[in-house]
Amino acid sequence: MTDPLALTFAETDLDAIAAQKGRIAVVLDPDGGLSVVARRVNKLTRGALTRLTEAAGFADKKAGEVITLAWPQGLAAEALDVVLLPRRAETALLRKTGGKLAKLLGADGMLVLAGNLNLPGELALGMMLRAYAYDAQKTEKATPNGPVQVMCARPDVDVAALQAIASGVFFTRDLINAPANVLTTTRFADQLAELSHLGIEIEVLSEDRLRDLGMGALLAVGQGSDSPSSVVVMQWRGGTGDDAPLALVGKGVVFDTGGISLKGAAGMEDMTMDMGGAGTVAGTMKALALRKAAANVVGLVGIVENMPSGSAVRPGDVVTTMKGDTVEVINTDAEGRLVLCDVMWYAQERFHPKAMIDLATLTGACIVALGHENAGVFSNSDPLCNAFLKAATAEGEGAWRLPMGQGYDDALKSRIADMKNVGGRPGGAIVAAQYLRRFVRDETPWIHLDIAGVASLKGETATAPAGATGWGVMALNRLVKDGFEG
Ligand code: BES
Ligand code: MN
Ligand code: ZN
Repeated sequence: MTDPLALTFAETDLDAIAAQKGRIAVVLDPDGGLSVVARRVNKLTRGALTRLTEAAGFADKKAGEVITLAWPQGLAAEALDVVLLPRRAETALLRKTGGKLAKLLGADGMLVLAGNLNLPGELALGMMLRAYAYDAQKTEKATPNGPVQVMCARPDVDVAALQAIASGVFFTRDLINAPANVLTTTRFADQLAELSHLGIEIEVLSEDRLRDLGMGALLAVGQGSDSPSSVVVMQWRGGTGDDAPLALVGKGVVFDTGGISLKGAAGMEDMTMDMGGAGTVAGTMKALALRKAAANVVGLVGIVENMPSGSAVRPGDVVTTMKGDTVEVINTDAEGRLVLCDVMWYAQERFHPKAMIDLATLTGACIVALGHENAGVFSNSDPLCNAFLKAATAEGEGAWRLPMGQGYDDALKSRIADMKNVGGRPGGAIVAAQYLRRFVRDETPWIHLDIAGVASLKGETATAPAGATGWGVMALNRLVKDGFEG
């Protein structure tokens, strides 16, 4: 796993600038005014910054741009990265700009002269999030990044909280990026068991136990695979003893071939990310434990592999869920909901949670609806849903609520069982949510997050390289902080 950047904050030491090795980044107001620290850099470089601000074209430069001056005279540093940011730059711009600085980072590290920037921690978090590479499968590893020191007027930043967030996000990314022959169902459960070192109580429920519990839908999905299915329960008890927990439930399909309703060959390799919901739950639990969140949160993930074989579930088979409802499996590729319905029911039976949020790379239809900009959000509770949307917005993680209703639920009527596992093509993401809703008790405030479009991307973003994004870890962490602590 990529280690989060070694990051420190300190008050500005003007006399340390000249001899600093590696790179120096200096924040400059796009209006051209020089702060105290920018003035010192300007003096050392014999006016490099004033030549920049007075140059034709400087007026066209925008906040968030980074201009690199190589081998600046008067400095020992190999480069001076001039970062255009106003003092009151908001979070999204700071993180995005931090991401740009991370791409310039090398083995020698960086001194960031943030001056009187209001939120230097957000610039640093953007750097940390972007300074990630998945090289576990490469023989040649990426060169580790050197240390980053941020000098600023307000160095009282909670670095441990930033490290906790980055570690959680990186855990999620590592799990999602891992190929399915590496992250088998067994290995996935083993990786989660290691979270016990952080004070998270772990239970791995074996197939025998799941059979005793009656999880016929989840077990049906995994029955075609040689790798055993399991449910992993992760309890973080940072709150008061008897306080009902928030339950986070994740779809953990380590590979989704579609089963007997086999997918086409094109792009099937992307289905290594079909455990994204479970990976996001795990990363969130890690972040919460690392920052010792004062809340009770339980993560539950259903880990299976969806394979076609002589023992695989067939289209037309009827399975019985833990709730007791029967489901006619029309399409074995609509497997995520079969996994989730049993884990969600178990979560409510055992923990009577204060609220329940499930995450899943559930439908291609959600990608058709919202693209890769927003996860689909479905809920039976306006207050919980609005609190989540607020948290997601604050963290820059796209999320968009979609409607639910009886008309969509009607599509699940089955001739021979209590329901089918698919409706038609129309509103596919919503019909999937309606299916899940049948396994939510009236008294449980619930959100379903369809992360099919946002869990992993073909291209890079401002704060993540191509591949797994870690979407949701920061929003859920914030939701816990703002709504479930204290
Ligand atoms: N894991 C897929 C959904 C998916 C598609 C995730 C693309 C990420 C990228 C899911 O199990 C699935 O196959 N869904 C089907 C449902 C259909 C059979 C009703 C789909 O979306 O086509
Ligand atoms: Mn599928
Ligand atoms: Zn799937």
